[in-house]
Amino acid sequence: MVTEDEAMGRAIALAARGLGTTSPNPVVGCLLLSADGEVVGEGFHAYAGGPHAEIVALAQAGERAKGGTAVVTLEPCNHTGRTGPCSEALVRAGVARVVIAVADPNPVAQGGAARLREASVDVVVGIRAHEAEDGNIAWLTSVRRGRPFVIWKSASTLDGRAAAADGTSMWITSEASRMDVHRLRGTVDAIMVGVGTILADDPRLTTRDLRTGSLAIRQPLRVVMDSNNRTPPEARVRDGAAPTLIATIATFGKGPDLRVDLNAVLTELHQRGIRSVLLEGGPKLAGAFLAAGLVDRLVYYIAPKLLGDGPAALVGGGVTTITDAIDLELLDVDRIGPDLRLTAKLRAPLPDPRA
Ligand SMILES: NC(=O)c1ccc[n+]([C@@H]2O[C@H](COP(=O)([O-])OP(=O)(O)OC[C@H]3O[C@@H](n4cnc5c(N)ncnc54)[C@H](OP(=O)(O)O)[C@@H]3O)[C@@H](O)[C@H]2O)c1
Repeated sequence: MVTEDEAMGRAIALAARGLGTTSPNPVVGCLLLSADGEVVGEGFHAYAGGPHAEIVALAQAGERAKGGTAVVTLEPCNHTGRTGPCSEALVRAGVARVVIAVADPNPVAQGGAARLREASVDVVVGIRAHEAEDGNIAWLTSVRRGRPFVIWKSASTLDGRAAAADGTSMWITSEASRMDVHRLRGTVDAIMVGVGTILADDPRLTTRDLRTGSLAIRQPLRVVMDSNNRTPPEARVRDGAAPTLIATIATFGKGPDLRVDLNAVLTELHQRGIRSVLLEGGPKLAGAFLAAGLVDRLVYYIAPKLLGDGPAALVGGGVTTITDAIDLELLDVDRIGPDLRLTAKLRAPLPDPRA
């Protein structure tokens, strides 16, 4: 027997298994408890077009769902997309109570809670809402803002250098950190760099096993911000190992800094169903994203090294004086091999014009 709170904790963990494969849909996890509180079904949404978490859990529970409780991380959908409405499936199965962490902000799918109440199902919303919201932050941000969730990943030395004075930057952090970056790549829909990084490092930007070199089955879209199409024809990002978008002014127009328009590119990515972008560099592009209020999260690897002279990990960012400093709230601090990994968000994000 588990409590509803414990069941929600398990449902949130299940939901996370879908990260990286459900876009443009959210990640969702569900547990079904029988009338006497036993777990009789569990499921998560594994891929877009596949069954929703509630349907997987209901199929496992069968008759035992009758009179029971569904514990689900996101309000059950109330519309017919590629699959039928989950609210109706729960009513048909005779579920007596539905416990929801987060209400669905998506106008197309919302209304599930109201439909369940109409059918005399007891509905509670808000259990472990903060935790479930965090687990679905990319999708929720994209619904609210009409653009993907942007994670700026950076690696620097303890003295904040992204490369040495002669421009060499491979490898600042350890193999363990680089493996962790590949894991992170596996959870996002796109990886973005500026053309400066392409010209300096010629990165592959694929998701792969660093030891064997084998590519992951699903590859995020590679996006190069390249105002004037300077990406060389032989650049590795053009190798066909993963889809690539070279975003130029000719296609997306100019932003206020006369470079390719960040907002136009993000809008296009959103329209393509991309819900999360890993911004992997470099210092100038990261500065432009921060100055435009378009960074939602930071994942920052710090190697216990000092490089002295050398380019800084961030250029610009809209900061000219101490009172402009971008104040961060640390969410996590981890040791990755010999390095530190800091996860943070902006304490006072700039207002997003689309929010
Ligand atoms: N330590 C790390 O985590 C890390 C990560 C990545 C790179 N790096 C290092 O960073 C160095 C390259 O630095 P970088 O700053 O030149 O790289 P970058 O930020 O990847 O590229 C900058 C270029 O992106 C283009 N761009 C297109 N649209 C832009 C926009 N709206 N705003 C800003 N830039 C835009 C600009 O070139 P156009 O004007 O031609 O479009 C700009 O010069 C390399 O040494 C690399 O090794 C370090």
